[in-house]
Amino acid sequence: MAARINPSILAADFVNMERDLGRIATADLVHVDVMDNHFVPNLTFGPQMVGRIQDVSAIPLDVHLMIDDPHRWAPGYAELGAYSVTFHAEAAGDPVALARRLRAIGARAGIALKPGTPVDDYLELLPEFDQVLVMTVEPGFGGQSFMPETMPKLRALREAVEARGLETWLQVDGGITEETIVTAAESGADTFVAGSSVFRGDPAAQIALLRDTAAAHIH
Ligand code: DX5
Ligand code: ZN
Repeated sequence: MAARINPSILAADFVNMERDLGRIATADLVHVDVMDNHFVPNLTFGPQMVGRIQDVSAIPLDVHLMIDDPHRWAPGYAELGAYSVTFHAEAAGDPVALARRLRAIGARAGIALKPGTPVDDYLELLPEFDQVLVMTVEPGFGGQSFMPETMPKLRALREAVEARGLETWLQVDGGITEETIVTAAESGADTFVAGSSVFRGDPAAQIALLRDTAAAHIH
């Protein structure tokens, strides 16, 4: 199975965003972290900036909304052309209704789970989502350490996806390096977000290394 590598531009240089998008041209999707300083204690950017990134990016956007009230804001990101829009389970009153709305606009719909959020309630709802994001750090900041204790959730999701014959992508985000990607791939992930580990060195070489390492451990 192919491994998707989605670099997080949270680790890019915000005043040289177009240049840094060019440095990740071999990525599968660009991971765009929207933070509102309420759902998480950090602030990035909103629809105006994401719209400009959409305009200039050669590869599609994987928008990760770490915001309150996704019912109000998430559809706007689908409307501006994001390929995938992921909102947090903890912030959504009616995740199924929101996912249906995103799909109706034409985006892939994703649901994200913080490390402490159990997966059980979502296994039955899997057909409603195109992607489940298992956070492998507490959302809010790049450069944190991967939390292996989140892996049982990924294994449960992989088992449910296979048992039902679904094609739901299983994404991990936070602390993904050429070492931790092995554990995540073995536990069932097929889509990998990486910020600091991609931008700290040569992004193209790092994307290739992450993709090859993951592909060797996906089963
Ligand atoms: C954290 C963000 C991540 C972050 C990952 O809340 O959702 O996408 O950019 O950064 P690294 O790969 O540095 O852990
Ligand atoms: Zn993210």
